Amino acid sequence: MSTSASQPRRVALVTGASQGIGAGLVAAYRALGYAVVANSRNIRQGDDTDIVAVPGHIGERAVAERIVQTALDRFGRIDTLINNAGIFVAKPFSEYTVQDFRDVIDVNLGGFFHVTQLAIPQMLRQRAGHIVQITTTLVEQPIAGVPAGLASLTKGGLDAVTRGLAIEYAKDGIRVNAVSPGVIRTPMHAPETHAFLAGLHPMGRMGEIDEIVDAVRYLEQAAFVTGETLHVDGGQHAGR
Ligand SMILES: NC(=O)c1ccc[n+]([C@@H]2O[C@H](COP(=O)([O-])OP(=O)(O)OC[C@H]3O[C@@H](n4cnc5c(N)ncnc54)[C@H](OP(=O)(O)O)[C@@H]3O)[C@@H](O)[C@H]2O)c1
Repeated sequence: MSTSASQPRRVALVTGASQGIGAGLVAAYRALGYAVVANSRNIRQGDDTDIVAVPGHIGERAVAERIVQTALDRFGRIDTLINNAGIFVAKPFSEYTVQDFRDVIDVNLGGFFHVTQLAIPQMLRQRAGHIVQITTTLVEQPIAGVPAGLASLTKGGLDAVTRGLAIEYAKDGIRVNAVSPGVIRTPMHAPETHAFLAGLHPMGRMGEIDEIVDAVRYLEQAAFVTGETLHVDGGQHAGR
């Protein structure tokens, strides 16, 4: 996309960007003409100078500060923030360790809180912005045999705050939405589990990264949509 004085080039921040859904989102936003600031713990700078890698644990305030400051120093604005970084620890609830609890809270909630809080002031200055969370359909439809209490706890919070911030900032031009996936074929899931995971969906298959990316792309251009959680889950949220 060309940049003109009347329409500056847009800038997206993507967390958890080194693989899976996050890497798909980086590619999609670049294809839309955005500059991208891409974060994960192990991300490395590539050849494309319009993708700036900011390595670090997204649960750390200093990393969130570096992501936002990098966007402002390099590109001068922030249009979209995609809170994609997340970890999934499936265990019976009574077997979670305190360390499991801290790890999941730090990434799934801390990873949302710090960077979102720091990006919003720039969006307020621009009087425009879009924030997207990647949640999970387990928030509304827990599955027997898939114990995931910490996913419900943390992604449920993200789902709720999506509507909370959508209302808080609706008059400021900032939209806040979420995409709620079923089980998606990413490196998160070992290939030997795929047949079992496919069977957890009414449609009988896992989702693909592109199907989540398409949903985010829809929300990006949906100017009258805010506070929405868009399910992309092969029917999981509807029932079994
Ligand atoms: N795949 C699914 O079935 C599914 C279903 C529902 C929801 N989701 C959600 O979708 C999002 C992406 O999932 P995915 O399947 O693409 O995951 P994935 O393949 O496991 O990739 C996770 C990404 O997050 C990064 N990451 C992990 N911990 C981080 C941290 N502390 N700070 C910064 N980055 C971190 C990883 O890179 P580094 O290792 O370099 O840090 C990686 O880039 C997650 O929020 C997940 O909960 C996924």
